[in-house]
Amino acid sequence: MLHFPVLLEESVDFLLKDLNGNYIDCTFGRGGHSKLILKKLSKKGSLTSMDKDPDAYKYASKFKEKNFKIINDSFKNLDKYFDRQSIDGILYDLGTCSTHLDQAERGFSLNKDGPLDMRFDNKQGFPLSEWLQNASEEQIKEIIYNYGDEKHAKLISKAIFKSKMKNKIITTTQLSNIIRDTYPEKFKKIHPATKSFQAFRIFLNNELEELKESLKAAEKILKQGGFIVTIAFHSLEDNIIKNFFKPSLVSFPKDIPLNNQQEKKFVCVAKKVRASKDEININPRSRSAIMRVFQKI
Ligand SMILES: C[S@@+](CC[C@H](N)C(=O)[O-])C[C@H]1O[C@@H](n2cnc3c(N)ncnc32)[C@H](O)[C@@H]1O
Repeated sequence: MLHFPVLLEESVDFLLKDLNGNYIDCTFGRGGHSKLILKKLSKKGSLTSMDKDPDAYKYASKFKEKNFKIINDSFKNLDKYFDRQSIDGILYDLGTCSTHLDQAERGFSLNKDGPLDMRFDNKQGFPLSEWLQNASEEQIKEIIYNYGDEKHAKLISKAIFKSKMKNKIITTTQLSNIIRDTYPEKFKKIHPATKSFQAFRIFLNNELEELKESLKAAEKILKQGGFIVTIAFHSLEDNIIKNFFKPSLVSFPKDIPLNNQQEKKFVCVAKKVRASKDEININPRSRSAIMRVFQKI
């Protein structure tokens, strides 16, 4: 197995209400969800999957189903590819794939030594090593604190800054060792650099902004009655999702004698769905998954 799909049956069951409909899997990865969607859809139904990672695109290009298409782009551009109100359901399974962590050369892994890259789309932008080389101590601290919720952000950023002034940090183990050696609590269950690595990944891939943009685009292209299914792995993503689907307050000018009203565009069909104990036993990564489902009114 290249990547264990999380909440697979549950998410696809919520997504597919019309087996002749048109669906989008925004995060193809290694196609775990896409495969099941294609298996369940009728020949009249269609699936378009997206992934910004060129390796995911290459993998998906082997799929031969006639009602399947893959797009190698960020999901923030969803509305470039689809007409308004043309889609029956959209799935997001956010974050990294196990393949990112398994392949040292992609530069995501704490334990496998590789170039310090961490880009989902490694054909664009610059690797983390380049950004780090030009960053100030304050910038490093802000990122580790804001995106990693790391209480030792100040200490860690100081150590990283000091170290990179001597030698450029170009590998993943260089960075994880600097963090490990400076971390005050020596005996932690998880590697002391876990939160900092997550923070750098979220920042470098602009994950939170792209998610916000994508949800706006998804709202435009979804049909009335269509579903958006999201699987998030940390509270920063989950909060963006919750806030986006909250009813917005419509206020009237003072001269109109009407009270402010709530404008509801979606109903929440399922909130905070978690993986079962059995799934967590097989795939510990699913422990932090939170699924939410919304239907467009
Ligand atoms: C958790 S994996 C998806 C796994 C997939 N559901 C499966 O079962 O194989 C998340 C995927 O989303 C991709 N991704 C992350 N941010 C993206 C974005 N803004 N646009 C498109 N793809 C993105 C990553 O490259 C990664 O392959």
